[in-house]
Amino acid sequence: MMTTETTTTTPPEYIPRGPTTADLTFYAPPPDNSAPFNYVESPPPGQPQRNYLEIPHSVPLNDIRGHEAEYNLDKDSVQALQNITSAATYATFDSDAAVRSIYYPEVEQLLLSKLPGAHKIVLFDHTIRRQKDGAPRQPVTRAHVDQTPRAAAERVRLHTTDPEEAEKLLAGRYRIVNVWRPLTVEPVQSAPLAFASAASVDENDLVPIEHRYPNRTGETMGVKYNPNQKWLYWSGMTGDERLLLKCSDSRGLRDGDVAQWVPHTAFWDPRTPAGARIRESIEVRALVFG
Ligand code: OGA
Ligand code: FE
Repeated sequence: MMTTETTTTTPPEYIPRGPTTADLTFYAPPPDNSAPFNYVESPPPGQPQRNYLEIPHSVPLNDIRGHEAEYNLDKDSVQALQNITSAATYATFDSDAAVRSIYYPEVEQLLLSKLPGAHKIVLFDHTIRRQKDGAPRQPVTRAHVDQTPRAAAERVRLHTTDPEEAEKLLAGRYRIVNVWRPLTVEPVQSAPLAFASAASVDENDLVPIEHRYPNRTGETMGVKYNPNQKWLYWSGMTGDERLLLKCSDSRGLRDGDVAQWVPHTAFWDPRTPAGARIRESIEVRALVFG
């Protein structure tokens, strides 16, 4: 957990902004060269949670605040949206049912209105993260992409009831986009999300990892360190801002003319003041068709 290493001289309300340098955690292969895996829940007896290595590297990060319009899903696989109105309050996120009834429709409308060509949205998952002991989900401090292209196609099949319809959808363009926001109106002060522009990521930096759920196996991607990667973050994100993280794009895979993925990870900024507000966030995962 990222709750150490604070400085006592900065005022507690200070929001770290601008360029910084931080340790990010990268993938390294299993020492015995076996195929990498990760158990989503507790591993079976005798098995480790994951069999690959994690290596910290100090990397420079640039702040996209003030430069939001320079980044888009087709080029960078990431997009920053501002001034988004929402009926969801902080309390909405305490109830799964409320998230689905109040927040989901807003996310669907947002994606339909902001992504040219999109005609059908399927929201298939969401995760609420709180940076505190005992929270069911914490920020993730490991650079990754949520799906491989194969796992993305599998998601289309999983979330389409009619197999014929699924094959039709698979023949068209489909993307997986995470819609990320803080739960609080107040700006994110600690554990912000870092992301590397797709334009700076070599395909060979990404390694498929078996993602073993209790009932099925998905596939995510680990990220190897490469000094060419351009790491970014969006300082002090507020509750009316949304970060779109595109983890997969069938058009990028087939035609190669648009970005396919965005590596991302939470990080600990050494400038975070003592007693900083914990980060609380939600990401909603969407299949975007068209
Ligand atoms: C995501 C993700 C990590 C975090 O949104 O896909 O990996 O710490 N988030 O918010
Ligand atoms: Fe992720």
